[in-house]
Amino acid sequence: MNALTAIQTRRSIRHYTEQAVDDEIINTLLTAGMAAPSAGNEQPWEFVVIRDRETLARIGGINKYATFAKNAPVALLTCVNTEREKFPGNGILDVSACTQNILLAAHVIGLGAVWTGIYPERDRIEGFRRLLDIPETILPLALVVLGYPRSKAAATERFDASRIHTEKW
Ligand SMILES: Cc1cc2nc3c(=O)[nH]c(=O)nc-3n(C[C@H](O)[C@H](O)[C@H](O)COP(=O)(O)O)c2cc1C
Repeated sequence: MNALTAIQTRRSIRHYTEQAVDDEIINTLLTAGMAAPSAGNEQPWEFVVIRDRETLARIGGINKYATFAKNAPVALLTCVNTEREKFPGNGILDVSACTQNILLAAHVIGLGAVWTGIYPERDRIEGFRRLLDIPETILPLALVVLGYPRSKAAATERFDASRIHTEKW
């Protein structure tokens, strides 16, 4: 699959088979994440790989829109290490780009994944800090829930010419 096809056909997948996702694949996804651009090449990302069933089952208590994590084989928490920021505030943007890379890599490999939001919701940030013993200097940004897809989702067309302004607004 070429990059444009991957971008155009990626969809959020929230239902997974019971097939495990092995460590080699997780490393491939995290390698893609760490290939993202970042401000001043600061690369402020950190990750938590979550496979523990009890932990996955508790995620719905932090984000009610992520209860399906309890049925996923694995979830990847993407975080900003604020101590690695050369340009304060940019870490959020860097780790967002990193998270999108992970979603695209998952899709290319044949996995199904979804970005579940943490930042900027204060209660979710604190909830994940408590759940995973994350220090104050680390900002949890997103939880990518993933596995082998139980069903496929069709690509959607979102191109909207009215959003494009030429030369001036
Ligand atoms: C910042 C952000 C937060 C999101 N949070 C959630 C979430 O908590 N739960 C969820 O099921 N999907 C979440 N999503 C996925 C969106 O619902 C999804 O991307 C959107 O509906 C478009 O569908 P698509 O990803 O299939 O193209 C989030 C996406 C983003 C970018």
